[in-house]
Amino acid sequence: MFDPKLIRKDFPILSREVNGNPLVYLDNAATSQKPRQVIQALVECYEQYNSNVHRGVHTMSMEATDKYEAARQKVAYLIHAPSVEGVIFVRNTTEAINLVANTWAIQNLRPGDEMVVTEMEHHSNMVPWQKVAAETGASLHFLPVTPEGTLDLSFLDTVINERTKLVSVVHVSNFLGTINPVKAIGRRAHQVGARFMVDGAQSVPHMPVDVMDMDCDFLAFSGHKMMAPPGIGVLYVKSLVLEGMEPFLRGGEMVREVWYDHATWNDLPMRFEAGTPNFADAIALGAAVDYMQALGMDNVRRHEIEMANYAMKAMGELKEITIIGPTDPRLRGGLVAFTTDVHPHDLGTFLDQEGIAIRTGHHCVMPMHTKLGLAATARASFYVYNTNDEVDMLVEGLKKALAYFGSHARRTT
Ligand SMILES: Cc1ncc(COP(=O)(O)O)c(C=O)c1O
Repeated sequence: MFDPKLIRKDFPILSREVNGNPLVYLDNAATSQKPRQVIQALVECYEQYNSNVHRGVHTMSMEATDKYEAARQKVAYLIHAPSVEGVIFVRNTTEAINLVANTWAIQNLRPGDEMVVTEMEHHSNMVPWQKVAAETGASLHFLPVTPEGTLDLSFLDTVINERTKLVSVVHVSNFLGTINPVKAIGRRAHQVGARFMVDGAQSVPHMPVDVMDMDCDFLAFSGHKMMAPPGIGVLYVKSLVLEGMEPFLRGGEMVREVWYDHATWNDLPMRFEAGTPNFADAIALGAAVDYMQALGMDNVRRHEIEMANYAMKAMGELKEITIIGPTDPRLRGGLVAFTTDVHPHDLGTFLDQEGIAIRTGHHCVMPMHTKLGLAATARASFYVYNTNDEVDMLVEGLKKALAYFGSHARRTT
């Protein structure tokens, strides 16, 4: 039984008050809260077996190594990776994308080659490719977004063409909420011989994601958005692609043998994990994956469709609000960005006084905001512990804010 009211009990932070009101946490796309099980995994690590991994022959080091590698196995299972070799622990989505940009892309792209992203990318899936373009002479191209906030697939076959060597696409937009048709995009990328990367920052935490079904060459995601601590994330790389990739960072643990003038590389995936890894947070990520699997990712997705549906209906009844992105909740993740006549920062500050946490600004998707003629928007984003009651509180808060700023505007004009 998937019951957000029961799930909430696992999250100690959700019982706190903010500014004298019960916390309503609707900023999950930025980072999620952590259940007791994840916090406990961290405490256990530091209280019972904290030791460096892959180095020691002593008992605690082997315990830590076993738990670290078990976490990798859990992640592989979650995303249906065929082996653990392709599951590389990094800090976050941003680092995962930068790893691909600084290794595979720099090694393989030449002047005249093309890279393709969408117009709705997070800065993390845009700025690294701008650097690759500057350094290799390859150029960056964009799949356009329709006024409804979906990708205009009529451009698929022209924007992705025989010059394209890399296609990197956000799975679920953290601004528009759109779920992109990654399978179709990947098929086209592979048809022209390009590599295909998926930014799963907003999909892996919220829905079943299967790297074999998507047939992606790279998948990036962050632990902190899926109930794990910040500072741990994952880059999945398809085995075939991984074999040919040079290491990113160099030093301890990523080597097999070292001489004064050269070195040889360790097995995969350690070749890409130079230095002491963030094993404690990786182990906590393993606990978060256990928690997600126990809930069932199909149930998580179903809950978020219901939340998005409920929120869009309730917020849509306020005539002052314009909701951004696709209107069909089945085409979007569990987040709703919107505008009103009130500046998003004023709105966010007002709601904070009511204990309601939303995100305001450009959400690191500045180019798409600019294309829509917006400087900033407000965004409510949901997760497994959010309830319709909280959406009602948000709507009440919005009504109060709109009334307050409306009357304030009338007084000052
Ligand atoms: C779609 C998307 N991509 C990338 C990122 C970057 O994630 P991180 O800051 O964890 O690297 C985010 C974070 O909000 C995101 O929503």
